[in-house]
Amino acid sequence: KGLIANAQIKARDVNTLCGDVIEITARVNNGKISEINFDGKGCAISQASASMLTELVEGKSLDEAARLQKQELLDALGIELSPMRVKCALLGFKVLKLGVYSHLGKKMTAEEEEELEE
Ligand code: FES
Repeated sequence: KGLIANAQIKARDVNTLCGDVIEITARVNNGKISEINFDGKGCAISQASASMLTELVEGKSLDEAARLQKQELLDALGIELSPMRVKCALLGFKVLKLGVYSHLGKKMTAEEEEELEE
């Protein structure tokens, strides 16, 4: 937890329903996420999920991170969540995608954007 100084990837988002925030910073080396941290404030699920997410993608290529599916993170969390709580759990996921896509100069398809807002 904490932010990386001079990170190449920086992204932040807020859950508009509760005001909770996640910020992700990462360093990229040879196309791979060599170091990734998160910071933020909010419910235990949003913070724990962001923490697990950083562990899931550290060492992965940017393409792998861009392709990561929501379900992989939810499976890693391994608990049953109500729809409201799923939104909490996916706040960090959304931030990661925003950061990776922006770093790659890639635009999300309307479908991908919609999926992040669900
Ligand atoms: Fe705000 Fe969970 S209650 S992200």
